[in-house]
Amino acid sequence: MFEPKIIGFCCNWCAYAGADLAGINRNQYPPNIRMIRVMCSGTIEPLYVVKAFKEGADGVFIGGCHPGDCHYQSGNYKTQRRIVLLKRAISEIGLDPRRIRLEWVSAAEGQRFARIITEFTEEIRKLGPNPLKLSGVENGI
Ligand code: FES
Repeated sequence: MFEPKIIGFCCNWCAYAGADLAGINRNQYPPNIRMIRVMCSGTIEPLYVVKAFKEGADGVFIGGCHPGDCHYQSGNYKTQRRIVLLKRAISEIGLDPRRIRLEWVSAAEGQRFARIITEFTEEIRKLGPNPLKLSGVENGI
């Protein structure tokens, strides 16, 4: 069975801590996600997401602080605007925009984090493998 490879860019102050809490509370979620801790979702350059897809990710999850809770004031608002554009850009290169998921998850929402990752993994499983992988675009081929 196809096992999706998901890259998760998670803000240190919220989603990453939420993932930790899910672990502590033993809230189960699929092991398909590889997490990258960032100091704010606003530091995630669109190019990082494109690179993840080019290198074979089937989905990219971005977890940031709830609106009004960003430690750097407006990083998450910037992320929200970027993701809208990024979804449009990836559909231009033949990727379903549902392969990118942005969620606000607080450090106290471990159970919610686990539920979102479970849902997202299922959604990516249904979408199938990243078509760039199959067309050889992966790794610049
Ligand atoms: S500090 Fe978490 S999104 Fe900015």
